[in-house]
Amino acid sequence: MPPYLKPYAALVTDLTDKYRFNLFYKTATHVVALQVALALMSIIVVAWSIQYAQERTIETVGEGIVAGIFADSPASTQSLSEAVARVSDETYLYSSIIVLFLNILFGILIARYALWPTRNSLQFQKRFIGNIAHEIRTPLAIIKTNTEVALFDPKLPESVRETFDDTILELDRISETINNLLSFDTLTRPRRMQFEATDLGDIARTALVRHEALAKSREVHLIDEIAEDCFVCGNSVALEQVVTNLVKNAVNYTPKGKNGSVTVRVEKESAHKIILSVKDTGIGIDQKDLFHIFEPFYRGDTSRARGIGTGTSGLGLAIVNEIVRLHKGAINIRSTPGVGTEIRISLPSATDKNLEDPFGEDGKGTNEVSVDFS
Ligand SMILES: Nc1ncnc2c1ncn2[C@@H]1O[C@H](COP(=O)(O)OP(=O)(O)OP(=O)(O)O)[C@@H](O)[C@H]1O
Ligand SMILES: [Mg+2]
Repeated sequence: MPPYLKPYAALVTDLTDKYRFNLFYKTATHVVALQVALALMSIIVVAWSIQYAQERTIETVGEGIVAGIFADSPASTQSLSEAVARVSDETYLYSSIIVLFLNILFGILIARYALWPTRNSLQFQKRFIGNIAHEIRTPLAIIKTNTEVALFDPKLPESVRETFDDTILELDRISETINNLLSFDTLTRPRRMQFEATDLGDIARTALVRHEALAKSREVHLIDEIAEDCFVCGNSVALEQVVTNLVKNAVNYTPKGKNGSVTVRVEKESAHKIILSVKDTGIGIDQKDLFHIFEPFYRGDTSRARGIGTGTSGLGLAIVNEIVRLHKGAINIRSTPGVGTEIRISLPSATDKNLEDPFGEDGKGTNEVSVDFS
């Protein structure tokens, strides 16, 4: 190869490697290639329409001249100019329809095929997270059991005992994160869930009892405003997780010893709607975080800065969001930094119709999250 071609050959090799191994580069190349193809086809359509308009205009004018020379009643200048205007309108209409059709077609191609590698990789990532979490769970349980067994030894020195106690606390924390990861993975395959008439009030009461110890340790009052017979069409295990994640956040993000409170309310809003509300008098959520807190692994700055969120995974609300979406519910948040947060979830009440087909026609559920900055 001549030496002056070597830099170009290196560039081509570099770009080919990037295309093969860099997913985003590959997607970007596909999108750009399709956009260039669209631009070329639009240029062809415009060139065709100009040529078509010219030919048709010449034909129309020619016909007018012939009629003027030979016909008994020659075409007037006005009718001739109207005929020419009609030709240009027709051409404009046809070419617009073709360009519109091309845009739609290329839009679909970009959405379905050009972005396919990225979509595929995100799905792979979720599955990968689920598999890894599953693999780690068993060895973790074994380590925890062994540590607990070791703690039974009465001759164990105090310092070692403390270390083992700390180890168990950390193992519990990792197990919780692993469980969250596994739930997140399961939620991406919704057909596994069984839906039935479930009393959301019962679930909320159980969650409150379970969080009494945590609330006591953080000196936060738990207030029960739960009505009777609030049946939703849902999966009880998943709904338990929703209430647990919300109550745990509310208690954890309420500063200790400031006479804080967490109110859990469940009520019928209408014949078709049940409301779950978890309201706290905690640190609140910054406006810039509010739009992101439902994203997996997102943790707000405020909680991190205050050290409250240490050891959390940022999956709690992402799981809540997935579960509410699968239940065709909606989430609404109101939060004021330094004053508190209220998260309201509305779920369809149990009716024969939604018990028959809980996933709806599309099987996807709705995804509604509204945020109130007041
Ligand atoms: N009640 C609340 N008050 C203040 N901030 C909150 C509240 N609930 C959630 N947040 C903020 O939203 C972020 C995301 O919450 P999420 O429950 O998803 O994750 P996490 O609590 O950090 O971790 P995990 O729940 O997975 O252990 C939190 O890091 C916190 O900043
Ligand atoms: Mg949380």
